[in-house]
Amino acid sequence: MKTVKFFLLLMGATYFCSTALAQQTPKLYGITIEDKYPHGCVDCHVQSGNLDYRINVRLKKYYPDHPDINKENLTVPRSCKKCHGEDKEAETMSVISHKVHYHKLSAKNDFIKYYQGKCLSCHQLNPSTGQMTLKNGPKNW
Ligand code: HEC
Ligand code: HEC
Ligand code: HEC
Repeated sequence: MKTVKFFLLLMGATYFCSTALAQQTPKLYGITIEDKYPHGCVDCHVQSGNLDYRINVRLKKYYPDHPDINKENLTVPRSCKKCHGEDKEAETMSVISHKVHYHKLSAKNDFIKYYQGKCLSCHQLNPSTGQMTLKNGPKNW
């Protein structure tokens, strides 16, 4: 009888621990879960039904003075750096990307609210080599 009770207790503890662990496992793209955005910016900023999140459209809406990039043949964000590079007048892609996605540390920021502000949305980490690279993709407009 005693052993049975102990066994049940052990089962309960194991179940509790494994569910708690499962809940705690962080969702890291390409490491613990499949990478849903292997091309970064352009995999997330897409047209979806009536909504258009593509970067050219968003720039026009939020930064109407932005130079027109519709005709530019861009790999995003790599070729944004031709104007947003270290030695250029406009801010770097690093500052711009981090600023627009983390601007408000509140539930109001959609990138934080819906995408958990994951660094690995734009950065790619190779767990075998430890190398971090930036995701890129051809423009989708
Ligand atoms: C996993 C999804 C995701 C990825 C990847 C992503 N973004 Fe965003 N981006 C968002 C969301 C969500 C917002 C809206 C943030 C807010 O609430 O202000 C946003 C906002 C922006 C804005 C401001 C205009 C707007 O639409 O609010 C720009 C510009 C932008 N992103 C460019 C980029 C660039 C460049 C990259 C790649 C370096 C990138 N994004 C990658 C989800 C993403
Ligand atoms: C032809 C040059 C050029 C290209 C290409 C370009 N930009 Fe810009 N961008 C500018 C200039 C000029 C400004 C205004 C100066 C500034 O804000 O630093 C600007 C400003 C911005 C801003 C507003 C920054 C702020 O905080 O006010 C965002 C966001 C931005 N660019 C995103 C992008 C993205 C994403 C790409 C690539 C898809 C891109 N830009 C490609 C020239 C360019
Ligand atoms: C929306 C896309 C996006 C997200 C999310 C993002 N980054 Fe970045 N990050 C960039 C881009 C674009 C660059 C510029 C890379 C380049 O110029 O080659 C960059 C550059 C960097 C650099 C190099 C330093 C520099 O200024 O060039 C570091 C470090 C970095 N990011 C850390 C992080 C960390 C930590 C997080 C999560 C808290 C994060 N990033 C989230 C897009 C992003």
